[in-house]
Amino acid sequence: MLNDKIAALLNDQVNKELYSAYLYLDFANYYADEGLDGFAHWYEVQAQEERDHAMMMRRYLIDNGVRVTFGEIAKPDKTFKEHIDPLNAGYEHEQYVTSLINNIYSLAFAQKDFKTMQFLDWFIKEQGEEEKNAEDQIKKMKMFGYDAKGLYALNQELAARVYTPSATGPAM
Ligand code: FEO
Repeated sequence: MLNDKIAALLNDQVNKELYSAYLYLDFANYYADEGLDGFAHWYEVQAQEERDHAMMMRRYLIDNGVRVTFGEIAKPDKTFKEHIDPLNAGYEHEQYVTSLINNIYSLAFAQKDFKTMQFLDWFIKEQGEEEKNAEDQIKKMKMFGYDAKGLYALNQELAARVYTPSATGPAM
């Protein structure tokens, strides 16, 4: 059995990951409305990945005898003036998620819960990648996104993102 506090934090993280999916779909809605279908697609894929993260945590809890419960998913409330705004908001959000994962990891470490630490290792690495992706996007947007041809090329590049499902099924 998992420690109650670790189980509660992971259960809450399921909600946070589903919120991330909701937030990134909201970004995709904005970009679709702006005619930037590549940006919209990139965030649609990101939303699918966030759902996978939620499912991985849900499965880990179930496999460890925890009754998973769901709370409400908050309404995304960001407003955007410029095309770069969702990218900045996404970077901030990923830094926040990293802090949440680190917090659970710290507790698992304190409890000598090596199984949960090993489970979370994947997420620690993933957060590093997600923060880097977000930072790279901001850099590219600053370099190319304020010129029509540059923005077009960036939109094409983001349109090429392919969704690769994470392992979300029962543990083997
Ligand atoms: Fe599930 Fe973007 O972290």
